[in-house]
Amino acid sequence: MGCVTGKNPLGLMVLVSSLLLSGLSLASELPSAEAIRSALKQAHERYQGLDDGANADYIPALAKVDSDIFGIVLVTVDGKVYSVGDVKSEVSIQSISKVFTMALVTEEKGVDALPKNVGVDATGQVFNSIHAIEQHKGHEMNPLVNAGAITTTSMVEGKGYNDIWNRILRYYSDFAGRELTVLEDIYHSEAETNQRNQAIAHLMYAYGHIEGDPLQATDIYTRQCSVGVNARDLGIMASTLANAGVNPVTGKALVDPENMPEILAVMATAGLYDDAGKWLYRTGLPAKSGVGGGIVAVSPGKFGIAAISPPLDEVGNSVRAQKAIADISAALGGNPYQVMPYKK
Ligand code: DON
Repeated sequence: MGCVTGKNPLGLMVLVSSLLLSGLSLASELPSAEAIRSALKQAHERYQGLDDGANADYIPALAKVDSDIFGIVLVTVDGKVYSVGDVKSEVSIQSISKVFTMALVTEEKGVDALPKNVGVDATGQVFNSIHAIEQHKGHEMNPLVNAGAITTTSMVEGKGYNDIWNRILRYYSDFAGRELTVLEDIYHSEAETNQRNQAIAHLMYAYGHIEGDPLQATDIYTRQCSVGVNARDLGIMASTLANAGVNPVTGKALVDPENMPEILAVMATAGLYDDAGKWLYRTGLPAKSGVGGGIVAVSPGKFGIAAISPPLDEVGNSVRAQKAIADISAALGGNPYQVMPYKK
């Protein structure tokens, strides 16, 4: 698997020296510990009592998850972990997993493979749209909607089901900095009811995007969506994306820094589905949601932040997590588009 230390050590050196020569510094100023603690506490207090939205129920087991779970974790790129609320309860990672499988395939096959086979544009359709596939015969999608994500999973290298699955789980675990496992009740519930995803995979196969068995790709995808994560895991995973692909807590390099801008760009374009534009307008943060109730967001070079709260709005994004992350990032200057005029 390619990473800073493996595939392209020269690339990193060139990047670092060209940044230094151009006078840019690698580390932007990080918010103070006091400011972070206060922003987390305020957001948790402000939204804990908000009970808008409802758990997803199209996967029956998701309806049974405790709707009161509410935890927020922010991890700075120097590896400091700040948390508030319930940071231990696990929910299924769901669509947030799509980012990490996208990163894995990008590492294995380079930045041109996914745009070529899947696309990197917002579809303008719901995340499990069949119409979007038909519109361009499976092109012009992105790795964060179901058709693109199942296809992305089908592109992971490996000799058969177990080998591919183990690579995916290993990669996610390295992002979280601990051994993650599958929530089997969620997996079985989704596997019994994922006929629509099976149809999507067959269509992507029919249009030549999936090679091999489309049902195997759907099943591995279903398994990856059922991985259990708590808010701390997601916070560390987000901070790895913020820290040019290096887990700031364990120090493990997982994505070549040169590949990170493309991954963050797709998160910015399509991370919150039909509301990706509204989210970006409000926060400027590349982010990804999942129907389990988690959201990860990235302030590049500064911090990763995650929140878990299962009740979702009508689009499928956690109500409390969106609000909490937006407020915290605003309080800490997380929006990468927000700069001050240059002083001569
Ligand atoms: O395939 C599905 O429908 C789920 N496993 C994942 C969907 C999801 O998380 C979309 N999120 N907003």
